Amino acid sequence: MPIWGLPFLFWAVAAATQDCPPQCTCQALETMGLRVDCEGRGLTTLPALPPHTRHLLLANNSLSSVPPGAFDHLPQLWNLNVTQNPWHCDCRLTYLRLWLEDHMPQALMHMYCASPALATGRPLGQLTGYQLGNCGWQLPPFWVYPRVWWDVALAAVAVLSLVLLIGLLRTSTKSLD
Ligand SMILES: *[C@@H]1O[C@H](CO)[C@@H](O)[C@H](O)[C@H]1NC(C)=O
Repeated sequence: MPIWGLPFLFWAVAAATQDCPPQCTCQALETMGLRVDCEGRGLTTLPALPPHTRHLLLANNSLSSVPPGAFDHLPQLWNLNVTQNPWHCDCRLTYLRLWLEDHMPQALMHMYCASPALATGRPLGQLTGYQLGNCGWQLPPFWVYPRVWWDVALAAVAVLSLVLLIGLLRTSTKSLD
């Protein structure tokens, strides 16, 4: 390695050893990010990941879900391997699904669901938002909006005015007879 490579070497060693999760092994990439390898460690929850994580290997673990926002502090992350995990594909997996849709949509077809029954054996990318469910986030029904009542009141006034107008016209035409 030439002499100007030394700072990189120091950075690489420091970065790779500093915040590496104990269950994983970390390696500095020449692109100034980290390759964090947590494959086949029997993980049931996501480890605390270093902010420089660029490649994250999570294949062959026991992960069933990823907390919402889990990768929000990892701006460099772009290569994520989440295959061979017993993913529970319900509404709580929506964050991971959207993250993959944004960063590496092809991976959604290689990520298979273990449960619930409706999703077993199907790739996450094949499930619709309706099948994932919505965790009870719902739009309030239309009648709670004050705007709706305002429209109803306006419509009522309009109808009433029309009725009055017709009544007036009829009486005035009658009196002409
Ligand atoms: C998956 O990980 C286990 C350890 O948890 C290991 O024994 C096994 O060989 C791994 N399988 C594959 C396909 O990598």
